[in-house]
Parts: sequence; structure tokens; C-alpha cells
Amino acid sequence: MVKAIRMFTTGGPEVLQLVDVETPKPGPSEVLIEQKAIGLNFVDIYARTGLYPVSLPFTPGGEGAGIVLETGEGVENFKPGDRVAYCVSGGGGYSEQRVVNAARLVQLPASVSFEQAAGMMLKGLTTWYLLRRTYRVQPGDTILYQAAAGGVGLILGQWAKHLGATVIGTAGSEEKMALAKAHGFDHIINYREDNFVERVRDITGGRMCDVVYDSVGKDTFPASLDCLRPIGVFVSFGQSSGVVPPFSINLLQQKGSLFATRPILFHYLTTREALETAARELFDVVEQGIVKIVVNQRYRLAEAGQAHDDLGQRRTSGTTILIP
Ligand SMILES: NC(=O)c1ccc[n+]([C@@H]2O[C@H](COP(=O)([O-])OP(=O)(O)OC[C@H]3O[C@@H](n4cnc5c(N)ncnc54)[C@H](OP(=O)(O)O)[C@@H]3O)[C@@H](O)[C@H]2O)c1
Repeated sequence: MVKAIRMFTTGGPEVLQLVDVETPKPGPSEVLIEQKAIGLNFVDIYARTGLYPVSLPFTPGGEGAGIVLETGEGVENFKPGDRVAYCVSGGGGYSEQRVVNAARLVQLPASVSFEQAAGMMLKGLTTWYLLRRTYRVQPGDTILYQAAAGGVGLILGQWAKHLGATVIGTAGSEEKMALAKAHGFDHIINYREDNFVERVRDITGGRMCDVVYDSVGKDTFPASLDCLRPIGVFVSFGQSSGVVPPFSINLLQQKGSLFATRPILFHYLTTREALETAARELFDVVEQGIVKIVVNQRYRLAEAGQAHDDLGQRRTSGTTILIP
């Protein structure tokens, strides 16, 4: 038997229970991993609350790192003892051991720790597609990222700065503002106190931004659209404050012939080749020290509920991990 978190109903953090489950067996093309660290993501909260429907009982968790214990039939690229990391949709991560399809697994470079990997697979690969695919950031671009001191935010700030952008961010406290400033952001706005549209106008001398990455959702919409230059790109990729309300497509014309997209990571990683390209580019920037993975919260697996509460109540910064 192994320990795992299970939820039997949707609800608050208290629905996350630590239970004993059968040790999973890897089927064909699958790999059994002993997990050394597990990443926590806002999407785990969406699953727990029922915003994203899941079938019950459910174990949240989409990213982690560990050691291969056993491989199923037909697995050629991995063997017991390999250090590996993954990000997957569909949960299953909050567990001492888990199986992952080998197609979704990558070898971990020796210089990347389990904690770093667990804290960056989903968030770092998300940053990769946001900056390199959804809108390809170029030197001289000005970008706005909402919730800059978060898990994705600190990775994106450093990477975007390296790409030559002027990086503007928002954060909800002085402490978070200082942290974001130390991780790539050129300008930080306290969006709980200041009007961020006016501040962006001042910072850019009225030109506004080429792209806005917004994962806060309800509370920053539609003001995020007002931070864009004409024909700018609005990337709505999350909803930590609530879902963006339905709007008329004509709004994009009124706000300056804007583009808008609502992407998710897994649509950018549909092939093995895409996963390998993305992981290689992410590991490159981490190994070169361009992007530092800031693991600011660590919890035991049994404390998953507390970890959810802290993430959901804006008490965290950087990346949060669970240690089995
Ligand atoms: N679409 C995708 O492919 C994809 C992939 C990964 C992540 N995401 C999204 O990216 C976002 C960031 O994920 P993360 O795991 O790195 O989380 P995070 O940014 O570390 O945490 C969310 C942050 O949002 C801010 N926030 C503003 N209003 C909030 C509210 N009402 N309730 C809670 N938080 C609020 C808080 O920062 P302040 O205190 O500074 O306001 C909070 O710390 C999430 O929305 C997630 O769903 C999307």
C-alpha cells in the first residue's frame, strides 16, 4: 500500500484526505515512479472545487518528479533508477507513488533537483508556451503579467526579461512586489491599491503593451484589455479570482482590434516532439541560471489541504510543493 490524497466529493480544502491505496502497477507503456516532490497548482483547486469537472474519487496533482521503480511492457526510454519528471492533465499526482504514461515523462538533467522539477514542469512549460508560442516575445516588446509573484509569474518574469522585453507585473502586497522585482520584472504595480491601467499608461508613455498575460480572470477583466496597444494580444489563461464573464466579440474591436485567446498547456504539448522541445528549452534556461525556480512553500503530503488553503487565499508566492 502507499499513501495518497483522495477527494470523495468536491468542496473546501477539508475534502482532501490522506488514505492508503493499492500500490499502482504500470500497464503497457506506463512507468511507476517513486515521487520525491509534487507540484501544487491552481488547477488542483479548480478540480477540488468542481470548477473543472472530475470523476470521483479523485486524486489531484499534475506535476512531479522522482525515481523510476518499474516499467510496463513496451517502455524503452526509461529504466528503474532513472530520475524523471512529468506534467499531465487528469490529476493523480498527490501520492507517494504513481504511474505515468512514458510518453509524458522526461529524463531529469543531473543539475536539476527533484524539488525544482516538481515546481516547474507545469508552470515552466506553461511559461514556455506563453512566451514562445501563444505570443512570441521579441526584444523591445512590453508585456504585462498579472499576479507576478506567483508560481508561473516568477518564472515568466525572469524568462521574459532574458528575451529582451520590458516586463511589467502586478502583485497584491509590498512583499510580493519586492519578490517580483528581484525576478525579472522591471515595473511592479500593487493592483490592490493602484489603478493598473493608469500605471501602465504612465510606465509606457501611453503606448501600452504588446501582450497581456492574465490568469487572475474576473477581477482584472476587462481592465486588462485597456493595457494593450491597438492589435495587441490578450492571453487569458486562468481565473484565480473567478471566471471571466461572457463578453461580445465586438469588445475586441472597441478596445483596439485586439486578439484574444484562452489557451491551456496540453493543447501545446500534443506530440512527444513538442514536449521534448519545450522541456529542453525550459531545462536550458534553468541550467544556465537564467530562470531560478523559487520554491517558497513546502508541505507534507498529509498537509495538502493546508497548502490548498494558502494558495487559494493568496498567502503563497513562487512555487509550492508537497513532499511525500
Ligand atoms: N492555462 C494554462 O495552461 C495554465 C497552466 C498553469 C497555470 N495556469 C493558471 O495560472 C495561474 C497561476 O497559477 P499558479 O499555480 O502559479 O498560482 P499563483 O499565481 O501562485 O497564485 C495565484 C495568485 O493570483 C493572485 N490572485 C489575485 N486574485 C486572487 C483571488 N481572488 N484569489 C486567489 N488568488 C488571487 C494572488 O497573487 P496576489 O496576492 O499578488 O494578488 C495569488 O497568489 C492560475 O490562474 C492557473 O490556473 C494556467
